[in-house]
Amino acid sequence: MDGNEGFPAYCPSCEQVKDVLVLLAGLASSVSIIFLLVVTFSPSNLKFHITDASLTMFNLTGNNTLDYKLEANITSRNPNKNVEIYYRKLAAVAWYKDNEFARVNLPPFDQGHKNTTFLHVAFEGKGLIKLKPKQLFEYNEESRVGIFNDLAVDLDLLVRYKFQSHRTTAYYPPIVKCRRLSLLLNSNGNSSSPPSFHVTRCRSGFFFANRA
Ligand SMILES: *[C@@H]1O[C@H](CO)[C@@H](O)[C@H](O)[C@H]1NC(C)=O
Ligand SMILES: *[C@@H]1O[C@H](CO)[C@@H](O)[C@H](O)[C@H]1NC(C)=O
Ligand SMILES: *[C@@H]1O[C@H](CO)[C@@H](O)[C@H](O)[C@H]1NC(C)=O
Ligand SMILES: *[C@@H]1O[C@H](CO)[C@@H](O)[C@H](O)[C@H]1NC(C)=O
Ligand SMILES: *[C@@H]1O[C@H](CO)[C@@H](O)[C@H](O)[C@H]1NC(C)=O
Repeated sequence: MDGNEGFPAYCPSCEQVKDVLVLLAGLASSVSIIFLLVVTFSPSNLKFHITDASLTMFNLTGNNTLDYKLEANITSRNPNKNVEIYYRKLAAVAWYKDNEFARVNLPPFDQGHKNTTFLHVAFEGKGLIKLKPKQLFEYNEESRVGIFNDLAVDLDLLVRYKFQSHRTTAYYPPIVKCRRLSLLLNSNGNSSSPPSFHVTRCRSGFFFANRA
């Protein structure tokens, strides 16, 4: 009996199977190498915090008009030592209970390695806001107490970045969300009143890719 039965000396389909296996193994190892490289060298996310905020006017009139003055200090930290960020457009958006009521543009700037940049945002004016009945009830309660809950500041950015010597095109990273702020209304602008604000970390998705 031929011991090679079932294994003919020339087996074209066996060769093909072997080729495919070799190719797959090669592919798998290069995918894992690329994955390792990305994990090792991909830049760390930027960190945003609201370090201080003040509310000196928050008056709703019968017309669904909000008379507001909200200021915030925000820090942006680039923790990477090989990435430079170019902020081409920055819009700060103010929300009250899921209702956008104000939007301001901030001047563009560049941010170097391991740099923390301080931003000051001032929302002031009148804006249209349509609160739902439950939200209006909450607004009235909060007005009585003098503390407004569920305020938020978002940063809507257009950026480029430089990694080693590679410069990307401009893209929109995920929106930076500084949510659930509770602010004491300080209508006399009295700066000697006690500080009431705790530093709040903002949430954002992976900064180095366009938002989904
Ligand atoms: C923000 O920072 C400035 C100067 O750094 C300071 O005068 C101000 O009180 C801070 N707070 C707010 C809410 O603007
Ligand atoms: C808020 O609006 C009411 C009218 O709706 C007005 O009587 C009051 O003076 C306003 N307060 C401020 C601080 O503007
Ligand atoms: C309502 O809005 C109109 C125009 O926007 C303004 O002229 C009027 O004074 C407002 N009324 C109140 C009560 O705020
Ligand atoms: C961060 O960048 C700003 C503006 O480019 C610069 O003024 C500041 O000194 C830098 N800070 C650090 C810690 O490098
Ligand atoms: C500011 O607050 C202090 C103490 O809380 C008070 O003595 C002072 O009169 C206030 N100033 C104004 C303009 O309200």
